[in-house]
Amino acid sequence: MIKMHKIFILFISIILFSNCKTREISIVDTNGNTMEQKVDSVLALMTLYEKVGQMNQYNGSWDVTGPASGKSDKDKLERLKNGGVGSMLNVLSVKATREAQKLVMENSRLKIPLIIGYDVIHGYKTIFPVPLGESASWDLDIMQKSAAVAASEASAAGINWTFAPMLDVSRDARWGRIMEGSGEDPYLASQIGVARVKGFQGDDLTKNNTIAACAKHFAGYGFAEAGRDYNTVNIGEYELHNAILPPFKAAAEAGVATFMNSFNEIDGIPATGHRELQRTILKDNWSWDGFIVSDWGSVGEMIAHGYAKDMKQASEIAANAGSDMDMESYAYEGYLEELVNEGKVDIALIDDSVKRILRIKFRLGLFDDPYKYCNEEREKTEIYTQENQDFAREVAKKSIVLLKNDNHILPLNKSIKSIAIIGPLADDKDSPIGNWRAKGETNSAISLLEGIKNAVSPNTKVIYEKGVSILTEEYPRGRGFLMPLNFNTTDVSGIPAAVKAAKNAEIVVLAIGEVALQTGEGRSQTNIKLVGKQQELLEAIYKVNKNVVIVLMNGRPLDISWAADNVPSILECWLLGSQSGNAIADVLFGDYNPSGKLPVSFPHNVGQEPLYYNKKNTGRPYNETHVTFSAYRDAPNTALYPFGFGLSYTNFTYSNLKLNKKEITLDGKTTVSVEVTNTGGVDGEEVIQLYIRDLVGSITRPIKELKGFQKIYFKKGETKTVTFEINSKTLEFYTVNKKWEVEPGDFNIWIGGSSTAELKASFTVVK
Ligand code: BGC
Repeated sequence: MIKMHKIFILFISIILFSNCKTREISIVDTNGNTMEQKVDSVLALMTLYEKVGQMNQYNGSWDVTGPASGKSDKDKLERLKNGGVGSMLNVLSVKATREAQKLVMENSRLKIPLIIGYDVIHGYKTIFPVPLGESASWDLDIMQKSAAVAASEASAAGINWTFAPMLDVSRDARWGRIMEGSGEDPYLASQIGVARVKGFQGDDLTKNNTIAACAKHFAGYGFAEAGRDYNTVNIGEYELHNAILPPFKAAAEAGVATFMNSFNEIDGIPATGHRELQRTILKDNWSWDGFIVSDWGSVGEMIAHGYAKDMKQASEIAANAGSDMDMESYAYEGYLEELVNEGKVDIALIDDSVKRILRIKFRLGLFDDPYKYCNEEREKTEIYTQENQDFAREVAKKSIVLLKNDNHILPLNKSIKSIAIIGPLADDKDSPIGNWRAKGETNSAISLLEGIKNAVSPNTKVIYEKGVSILTEEYPRGRGFLMPLNFNTTDVSGIPAAVKAAKNAEIVVLAIGEVALQTGEGRSQTNIKLVGKQQELLEAIYKVNKNVVIVLMNGRPLDISWAADNVPSILECWLLGSQSGNAIADVLFGDYNPSGKLPVSFPHNVGQEPLYYNKKNTGRPYNETHVTFSAYRDAPNTALYPFGFGLSYTNFTYSNLKLNKKEITLDGKTTVSVEVTNTGGVDGEEVIQLYIRDLVGSITRPIKELKGFQKIYFKKGETKTVTFEINSKTLEFYTVNKKWEVEPGDFNIWIGGSSTAELKASFTVVK
């Protein structure tokens, strides 16, 4: 039982601290003392039950994003009132978050506010492109801003924590969650991850329009064997450090408030129970002071993994390993007190977890005002505004990648006489909203058909035919997140009408690809060709009209090799969000010159997966004259469309690659410059990419690694000299000494417009 004078001290402290507000609890608090004192003063008042309570998170059942628990609402309510819950997820709207917060603030002894989380992954109600698509913009400023807009809308609806960004590097198109990340490259993923963290969190978490971000899933989740979700991960220590951890380290350094661990095991140890990952690497080596939330039910899943015999042991393992908050396993609330009393979990570890959670609540300013995000006026006026819609269009058009454009078939003329808009996704107002759509409404996107109609001249004849459906039944709505999809593999009755439309039009725009829920959690596939009858539709159309522009909508790389061989133009349009149709029309008709570049390789076929440009050379690198070299006999080793690739309506040429020095010391630096000229007929942007190869290492190094990029606007005919600095950060890697360091030796360097860049120079690093 707590003594009265302690409660009194708590009140005094809260009053005192709330008077000094933002200055003292700023996230950039340099000495850190004041906030730590506050955290300690609260911790000192807490019973073990209340401490465990902070480590406990409940689902609010406005949305269900994992297997339901069966815990009754009555039990949840009771614990909320008596200080047994520190956080909730999926509590949506100002009304609901206020109610949940009130339960705690008006009933619990210590009145420690809830932190309320939600998967705000690519927008709250104004929906931006799915993260993989947005990553194709290679535009860090707009990605930071889109996260800031998402944070501002979510915070206007009472949310103060997002489970984003997802930082899992993934090289496997089969994995459904590849859509939620930034693709295959650790450097690009680090840059984008930091931009998104900064966007969500702003420079001051105490503001009411910024929210806590969450670096997830720690770690290795994107390397699931054979791309099957939740599957086993087997990677070595060096691969873990060099390919998987860099975006997480970058996010930790950027001050991300929270981490989420992952469902998978790594080399036999489930991430949730992985002490080395969570305690040694993240908390100790990286000196990161936020808290780690488990993934949904992942504490309990250690039983199925065969790593814990029951929920009690699972709790023991997870808490000892450094997993601070239990999402939906009901493990900590059930067993942690007992485990502490039995001496199986040290109270010091519990205290550390609780301090981490309290620290973030202080940083958010929740102790000053637990209702700071509960503002009905903001909820009414700051969500889904015209300004946010305009910005969503901007982001969407910058995310589009032009994969093919023979004979300059694009851009189209707005006064074109007739245009046939065909395909299952052409008038689909829902798929562009994508998976993890938060409060993005069903059927709320501008469809391609609408976008084109908005753009063309009144005299243009626009003909629409769906051709085929992707699914057999009406798209699963509402809780569709958890539903199976049934693909249409038989019905081709719409193809004749589509063929007729194609015959009568000057040009065909064919919208094919994937529906919203084909990618995302639990949406792995072994087939990455166009599903159902789409290929049949494509070939039937192409037979009667060769002027076909494919608008591809998808959340993963697809096998589009037939289209690449035959169709003159392909526009990669991902799932572009609320303004999809308008943004695509901007590109189709040349109001915007496409500038996106692939953040992930597109294979010739699924058998090449996992496919990534930054691979190792092997002892028998590809040699076309001989069989006993590392190659497929029925497909190339290389990608159909490689990482970093994307065309423009203009052309860029690269010349005059110059290295300032040919030799540098281990901690030295040099600059490299290149001249880039827009040699085509229109203005446009180019993503200039810098790649290196460390020729010999204490562990083998990839044949190419992205180490810098700049997205630059060029007027037609304009030449600019673009310069990059090369320093120890560019050249270091996790070496055989188990630390990040530069090794002496020879390096190659390339600059160009994709990972196949050929303009090359070399330099040496000396001791
Ligand atoms: C996902 C997480 C997500 C969580 C909460 C899990 O199933 O793996 O990414 O944040 O659910 O919705």
